[in-house]
Amino acid sequence: MAKKIKVAISGLGNCASSLIQGLEYYKHVDGNSPLVPGLMHNVIGGYKLSDVQVVAAFDIDRRKVGKDVGEAIFSPPNCTIKFSSVPKLGTTVLKGPVLDGVAETTKEMFLVDPNQKPVDVKKALQESGAEILINYLPVGSEQAVRFYAQEALDAGVALINCMPVFIASDTAWAKKFEDAGIPCLGDDVKSQVGATILHRTLMKLFNDRGVKVEQTYQLNCGGNTDFLNMLERQRLKSKKISKTEAVQSILPSRMVDESIHIGPSDYVPWLKDKKLCFLRIQGRKFGDIPINLECRLDVEDSPNSAGVIVDAIRCMKLALDRGIAGPLVSPSSYFMKHPIQQFPDETCREMVEEFIAGKRER
Ligand SMILES: NC(=O)c1ccc[n+]([C@@H]2O[C@H](COP(=O)([O-])OP(=O)(O)OC[C@H]3O[C@@H](n4cnc5c(N)ncnc54)[C@H](O)[C@@H]3O)[C@@H](O)[C@H]2O)c1
Repeated sequence: MAKKIKVAISGLGNCASSLIQGLEYYKHVDGNSPLVPGLMHNVIGGYKLSDVQVVAAFDIDRRKVGKDVGEAIFSPPNCTIKFSSVPKLGTTVLKGPVLDGVAETTKEMFLVDPNQKPVDVKKALQESGAEILINYLPVGSEQAVRFYAQEALDAGVALINCMPVFIASDTAWAKKFEDAGIPCLGDDVKSQVGATILHRTLMKLFNDRGVKVEQTYQLNCGGNTDFLNMLERQRLKSKKISKTEAVQSILPSRMVDESIHIGPSDYVPWLKDKKLCFLRIQGRKFGDIPINLECRLDVEDSPNSAGVIVDAIRCMKLALDRGIAGPLVSPSSYFMKHPIQQFPDETCREMVEEFIAGKRER
């Protein structure tokens, strides 16, 4: 029987809710089934989803702190779809330091009780026995993310960074992890079938078929706290870089900045965790004749990221088992928008399969 994978989570919002619901949902899946609808891999290196255990969780919202994780994931303002019931997990949500986790736009959504004191995160990580910290903090939480990354380093815990404060893709931070003998994977989840992978695939198609792309946009709307947070435009800088570079990097030569517009565009409360992506590509084909493509993707946002993180967790566990330190180049390139090194998606996929099979070190 495979060993358990003990994970801690910072930020128990919608993405964490979908991840934890998914761990329950796929708990009884037979390990011998090669194809399971909804999963990219049923088993990775002997590990199934049922091997993942949440042993620590940190949040700042008074409606989550002090509750069992199994209850806290269904507490407001979380609004993602409930596709699985989750029992009490025996892990209580601990208060983390707020730092810059709350924006002007979210201060009425993330309710902080000043009387609840933050715990010692490093100590809590060590006492819980966590091996991996999964970071799901809001976009723009530069100080808070660096704080959790440093606590993970000090506690000897690996990091999966699901959002765009650059840690695993930042050479200085990546070196810190390497020097400490700890693996890291990031940054900013590339969802299962989300706007980024769709945009990358279509741009590559145009390019492979000889079409010159002249302009493109990707406009995204949603009604969850992630979109509300991103209304504060100065918090968006790294998200825009992450999303834009994910598309630019697929092209043989960069588009001029004015011709490519990618980013979170608006908050529509009634959409809740549904995300709408409006994508347009304009170019010129044979004979300089114009060709335009419009497409609209309609997805529940958070399960889309959880479907990727369940694989990232198991790849990270393989890295821990193998004693690998520093950024995991192959898993980061496939699972994340802003990895330390970008490759075309089919190459990333091959690299991940080779990593899983032990044919590629990182
Ligand atoms: N949904 C996707 O497909 C997707 C894809 C890529 C990246 N992401 C990123 O993942 C992150 C999480 O997304 P989400 O939808 O779960 O967000 P969310 O707004 O639902 O959750 C954020 C959580 O962080 C908590 N928090 C805020 N400050 C904190 C602090 N200092 N310490 C601990 N907890 C704190 C909030 O209380 C909330 O529970 C976001 O940065 C988002 O951009 C999501």
